Amino acid sequence: MKSKIAGLGKYLPSITMTNDDLTKFMDTSDEWIQERTGIKERRYAIKHKETTSTLGAKAAEIAIERAGITKEDVDFIIFATLSPDYYFPGSGVLLQRELGICDTTIGALDIRNQCSGFIYGLSIADQFIKTGMYKNILLVGAEMHSMGLDYTTRGRNVTVIFGDGAGAAVIQPCEDEGKGVLTTHLHSDGRFAEELAMKNPGSHGGYHLEDATAYEFPDKDSPGDIFVTQGMLDNALLYPNMNGQLVFKNAVVRFMEVIQEAFQTAQLPLSELDMFIPHQANLRISQFVQKKIGLTDDQVYNNIQRYGNTTAASIPIALTEAWEEGKVKDGDLVCLAAFGSGFTWGSALIRW
Ligand code: UT7
Repeated sequence: MKSKIAGLGKYLPSITMTNDDLTKFMDTSDEWIQERTGIKERRYAIKHKETTSTLGAKAAEIAIERAGITKEDVDFIIFATLSPDYYFPGSGVLLQRELGICDTTIGALDIRNQCSGFIYGLSIADQFIKTGMYKNILLVGAEMHSMGLDYTTRGRNVTVIFGDGAGAAVIQPCEDEGKGVLTTHLHSDGRFAEELAMKNPGSHGGYHLEDATAYEFPDKDSPGDIFVTQGMLDNALLYPNMNGQLVFKNAVVRFMEVIQEAFQTAQLPLSELDMFIPHQANLRISQFVQKKIGLTDDQVYNNIQRYGNTTAASIPIALTEAWEEGKVKDGDLVCLAAFGSGFTWGSALIRW
């Protein structure tokens, strides 16, 4: 028994934030951003009206309809995000509520694998389908980064790359011989956990921060005053941070490894690949991988120019667009690959 993607949906919120728009807040330029990342603009959600789970629900409704099922048929939810509505509970239960299917009391699982979230989620869904446990799994990747970025020059290396959006897929058993999800591969290396991270607030209470001396060890009389401190606010430590060059160097190596691993496992030559959908982290990373594998422009789908890096949402948004544009067709061999915070990375090979 294999699994397949039976329906795809995406939702991009309405506010278009161009590179020039960002120059109003920080010292950056359209030229720098385009040259280093390929990004021209990104979408932002409407604050206080939209959240990560409402973006996800809009993408999910389209995927459900395209899969030919109803919301009530969904028997499990997997939600991947690094910018959830709440610290807890996860966004999966909020998505269930937003879709109006709480009466079904289906399970909802949140996963925290950042840019690799969709591939991790696909692999989990694939296992559940293979065991026969579920038949209509709703897998959502959604992000609302715009709410939690540092819009000063201090945060420019991260802020200019991130955008909001959501993508969704319905995963079902695949009846067609030779089709469906052929193989998935998941990896991590926690030694690099802090190289792309949002560390605060957290149970470390500032202990692992560079300026840890600023944070005193709590005693019995003050057990709770270090979760969010004035120092964190003053030093912008409540925002994501990234060692961009290190992430970039690891990304290109791991992308290649995990793509090759997928083809070796499936015992297929790379030359059979029809469409490569990389996580949209940086156009230069996609172009590097494209060149290394020897793919034409038509065999790689990129939309980072329009949406920036939407982390867990980037692959389902790109896959949905590629499918809508007729670039992913019946019988095509499609490869998904991602790398990001954790570090975590992964790949999936699908016969459409
Ligand atoms: O999706 C998760 C995985 N994420 C990734 O894969 C991201 C991987 N990394 C990258 O994409 C790139 O490292 C970035 C696009 C984030 C940065 O590009 P870079 O070529 O590695 O730049 P850099 O960080 O080495 O910075 C070069 C210079 C620095 O100035 P100095 O020290 O040379 O004077 C930065 O301060 O560019 C400066 N800089 C900027 N300048 C204008 C950094 N960000 C900006 C900015 N606008 N937004």
